[in-house]
Amino acid sequence: MNSKIRNLVIPEPDPNFFLPEAVIDNIDRITLLAKRHPVNVLVAGKQGCGKSSLVRQFAARSKRPLATFQIGLLSEPGQLFGEHALKDGQTYYRKYLFPDAIQTPGCVIHLEEINRPEHPKALNMLFSVLSQDRGVYTDELGHIKVADDVVFFATLNEGDEFIGTEMLDAALRDRFYVMLLNYLPPEVETSVLILKAGIGEADAQTIVNVAAKLRGNSRDPMVVSTRHTLMIAEMISVGATVEQAFTGSLQISRDTLESVLLSLHVETKKIGAQANENPYQRY
Ligand SMILES: Nc1ncnc2c1ncn2[C@@H]1O[C@H](COP(=O)(O)OP(=O)(O)OP(=O)(O)O)[C@@H](O)[C@H]1O
Ligand SMILES: [Mg+2]
Repeated sequence: MNSKIRNLVIPEPDPNFFLPEAVIDNIDRITLLAKRHPVNVLVAGKQGCGKSSLVRQFAARSKRPLATFQIGLLSEPGQLFGEHALKDGQTYYRKYLFPDAIQTPGCVIHLEEINRPEHPKALNMLFSVLSQDRGVYTDELGHIKVADDVVFFATLNEGDEFIGTEMLDAALRDRFYVMLLNYLPPEVETSVLILKAGIGEADAQTIVNVAAKLRGNSRDPMVVSTRHTLMIAEMISVGATVEQAFTGSLQISRDTLESVLLSLHVETKKIGAQANENPYQRY
């Protein structure tokens, strides 16, 4: 697991991260509750809509260290805590970051893809850490107690398409406050693209409008994350046309894209039209 080698650091603030006011208010209340006892928060929402950023920015703004663990990769119980390893012909127990992180006062613990561990029992030890007793016993480490003011954030990808198939175990979900994130409203997403990718307002609006059409296509809705609209905006910032940026970023045919652009009355420069449809040259 990659996360075990990361050290505990306070992340950098992102001045251009936007959240609904209701979520910000909720986060403020969570901060107050955490002073009384450790708190669990579940952040759910579609792919690339800002879940990890929310956790990171909470840590940055409250100057807390952040430790991230990929729960989706866990293949056995206890794997978060450490492993038996071999050195010079001797076995020894190598402790991972997780036990240190949960014993660090004020730490933000990010549990990614909590609904998808590879092994069904992998969540067992985590469960007692997230439950009332806030502690866990392991043969190797003894009793471990969660430190004061620790906040657990679990994130899961839960769009409409996942509901029912990838639901988090009910008993586990019962222990979390929940924050639902959606794609940003168009005017905010436009600002994010302008601020983060440095493109002009007209281009940003076109990207957001095209993305909205693709997301909202009732017959064949497409997942276009904020991560992806940002990638498209960055392509434009280095000289691509809107068409080039979309077809080079998403799995979308030029025909589909052109009909969307046409429906939005966006003027397109015909790239490689007719005779010269697909010119090749030595790379
Ligand atoms: N609300 C937002 N305001 C500003 N930037 C955002 C917002 N949401 C997402 N982004 C940007 O989009 C990118 C992806 O966000 P992030 O990784 O937080 O999404 P995620 O929901 O955790 O994705 P995944 O489902 O893949 O885990 C980041 O670069 C982030 O800065
Ligand atoms: Mg994420």
